[in-house]
Amino acid sequence: CGIVGYVGPGSSLEVLMGGLKRLEYRGYDSAGVAVLDNGGHLGTRKKAGKLGMLSEELAETPIADGHTGIGHTRWATHGGPTDGNAHPHLGDDGKLALIHNGIIENFAELKRELTDAGAEFSSETDTEVAALLVGRLYRETGDLTIALRRAVARLEGAFTLLVVHQDQPGVVVGARRNSPLVVGLGDGENFLGSDVAAFVDHTRRAMEIGQDQIVTIRPGSVEVTDFAGNPVAAREFEIAWDASAAEKGGWPTFMKKEISEEPEAVGKTLIGRIVDGAVHLPELESFDGLLTDIDRIVVLACGTAAYASLVGKYAIESWARIPVDVELSHEFHYRDPVIGERTLVVSVSQSGETMDTLLAVQYAKKHGARTLSICNTQGATIPRESDAVLYTHAGPEVAVASTKAFVAQITALYLLGLHLATIRGTLDAPAVSALVEELQNLPAKLDQVVETSGERIADFARWMGDVQSVLFLGRHAGYPIALEGALKLKELAYIHAEGFAAGELKHGPIALIEPGQLVIVIVPSPRDPNSLHPKVISNIQEIRARGARVIAVAEIGDVEVLPFADEVIRIPLAGPLFEPLLAVVPLHVFAMELATAKGLDVDQPRNLAKSVTVE
Ligand code: G6P
Repeated sequence: CGIVGYVGPGSSLEVLMGGLKRLEYRGYDSAGVAVLDNGGHLGTRKKAGKLGMLSEELAETPIADGHTGIGHTRWATHGGPTDGNAHPHLGDDGKLALIHNGIIENFAELKRELTDAGAEFSSETDTEVAALLVGRLYRETGDLTIALRRAVARLEGAFTLLVVHQDQPGVVVGARRNSPLVVGLGDGENFLGSDVAAFVDHTRRAMEIGQDQIVTIRPGSVEVTDFAGNPVAAREFEIAWDASAAEKGGWPTFMKKEISEEPEAVGKTLIGRIVDGAVHLPELESFDGLLTDIDRIVVLACGTAAYASLVGKYAIESWARIPVDVELSHEFHYRDPVIGERTLVVSVSQSGETMDTLLAVQYAKKHGARTLSICNTQGATIPRESDAVLYTHAGPEVAVASTKAFVAQITALYLLGLHLATIRGTLDAPAVSALVEELQNLPAKLDQVVETSGERIADFARWMGDVQSVLFLGRHAGYPIALEGALKLKELAYIHAEGFAAGELKHGPIALIEPGQLVIVIVPSPRDPNSLHPKVISNIQEIRARGARVIAVAEIGDVEVLPFADEVIRIPLAGPLFEPLLAVVPLHVFAMELATAKGLDVDQPRNLAKSVTVE
């Protein structure tokens, strides 16, 4: 969910609605605001559906504006996406409003207790429990910060909470546990947000709020304490991107813009990290002794980030000769995994807030592993809780399905692999320098793919609008690219799609092939003497013999593929571990174009949220 809070001289409604617009990618099944007007009255409006529905509601039945307020965009957990379940929820007889991100696990017990004490519930949400509880504690204490502090002591689970009370104008209080919250520091005004996008229009100065902390903002002050009430010195940071980076800037959709930014995402992730043909990662200095000592790497991630991690595995194992296991975060810590002091745990997360990954990292730390976060979002929870962080510099990714962050994540993993190979002596300097050069050549090659693949794929997509199922095949590092191609098609176009290792096909999935089945195949380069090219060509023949329609993604000049494919999408020449980064772009474009041809919203697909901060 997305959260925004404001106190200051400006119009609350404007700040809140602007912030929610930028946060909408965090959830978009309902939205709401609460504002204290200048007469000391609390007004709220909330509405199921996208943010536009709330704007319409506010236009039809306006509330008085003021200078203190909170806003929320929801991704439903407890209770469906209805007007009633939307946030804010009210407490203290409608005088207090509260918004929440996360899940309150002991809500049933608290609900019973509050009901016994005479409270009446008007929604099915766990959030309303918190609103009524804080309301009751406010009546006892007369102070919103103290009331919230006492309330969080009773709550179990993960939450960010923001509250306002009509008797406390000019005050917004927030609390966080295992769920994101940052402060935006303005001049005579202050902001709260689930990420900096909430207020980047107004200020680029931000402050981190740590785990189990409470923050009280007023126009001229920000006070942070722990849950026990002890003051905490919070760290300030400068937001590295400006508001325009998170805007469409003339593009029809964020998805289209972000795919076009894939070359830049790789280029920016490399900046400053290559010196004289060698990899330079000062971020890992504190690790150096350990990095020669580790005997295993475990990479934790979900969704697209997990597929980027799988690509990374092929490179790191080959270059640094360390076993790498890629694990879905939510499976990892529930199965009693074997980790120890010689395990390096690398988490990969665009948002840095994915709850599944955060919990897996916390588990790994507790069991003695050293943790490195690869993350695209400054000041996010996972990097804060890790021993070190290697930021990807893809810039803000707004479209819900991840694209440019994917190639940036692979780039960061490759830098890590080359760094490890250097310090562990598994590659000599000329070998590292040749690979570094490949990395540096990627942005220009990606540019070429972005430029050449668009129109062609848009053409296919138009005649394929009615396709029911698409299979993706790849081998070696092309295999995770096949998985990513399939995921993107599911996410954006709601089409059944599956990715397979091409060699696995004959062990089962080939039974799916019937005349007309569309199969997209990532074809490795034939130039490499160890290339799997002939094997992939055989795999294509096997499916063609059974009537499949084949689109091949193959390098420029590969003529051997021509007799076997119905269509060929070309990518520039690159080394075996670098081709996948080029091959993924057409697959991203394909998913986007097919979704567009079906008239779907490619930036905010149904049922998804960009950062899933619940388990
Ligand atoms: C959600 C998003 C996916 C994303 C995944 C991991 O499910 O919809 O696009 O790949 O989370 O997100 P992260 O922020 O951890 O990379």
